Amino acid sequence: MKTAEYEITFPKLRKMLEQNEEWIILDGENGRTKLKLHDYGRIYSVPGLYEEIFYNRLKCDSPNVVGTMLAEELEKMKDAPAELRVLDFGAGNGMVGECLKEKVECSSMVGIDIIPEAMHAAWRDRPDVYDVYYVMDLNNLNKKEEETLKDWDFNTLVTVAALGFEDIPTFAFVNAFNIIEKGGLVAFNIKTKFLMDEDKTGFHEILDRMFDSCLKVVNSKKYCHRYSLTGDKIYYQAIVGRKLKDAHIS
Ligand SMILES: C[S@@+](CC[C@H](N)C(=O)[O-])C[C@H]1O[C@@H](n2cnc3c(N)ncnc32)[C@H](O)[C@@H]1O
Repeated sequence: MKTAEYEITFPKLRKMLEQNEEWIILDGENGRTKLKLHDYGRIYSVPGLYEEIFYNRLKCDSPNVVGTMLAEELEKMKDAPAELRVLDFGAGNGMVGECLKEKVECSSMVGIDIIPEAMHAAWRDRPDVYDVYYVMDLNNLNKKEEETLKDWDFNTLVTVAALGFEDIPTFAFVNAFNIIEKGGLVAFNIKTKFLMDEDKTGFHEILDRMFDSCLKVVNSKKYCHRYSLTGDKIYYQAIVGRKLKDAHIS
């Protein structure tokens, strides 16, 4: 991958910020700027910057954790699908798709993200990972888009580091879930806080309703998703399950 010339400086913070409030200073081609860690569009537009911040410095391990859990469950399943047709939802610059393809045989891999910068970065940095990459908003899916996605006959959904905050909302996640065929595999991670009773994102409520009735969880574990800028561990839950039926959100 081609990387750009830049320098990043982490602020000296006294207390931990919410993930979507975290920021760094970037010294790059366009001078010095303050950059929020959730400003993905700007981050993806600098080759290698996403990898440097989240993977090298903040030690994110989520594509590997979720991918490994999915691969292990597939090994154990007697009726595992012969080939995986994967929808990588919230695909970003392609790190999850790439990691998954190294672990399991995928006959198709389709990426979806809501911002075009993610798609451009995936084609720029990982041109061999996706068969197709769509910039789509699954919160406002029209009939044509739904049919386009259904034509792929997806039997696997992966969503890594993309649920909650101002990222993928519950309705869009349920729409992605409903595009996957019955019996398909679903592998995702979510901040542990969003699974607790006091959660305000709606994920606790919807996942609580989906577990057992729509999604049979086959493995679930709490792990360190990455470090915060203050060096604290940020815990997520990785979940792998099998789809039983479509979910409905009211
Ligand atoms: C932290 S990045 C994770 C990217 C990739 N899954 C990974 O683990 O490297 C979150 C991604 O979710 C995308 N995203 C946020 N809201 C979304 C939505 N409503 N629909 C699809 N993608 C969304 C962002 O644009 C961003 O690329």
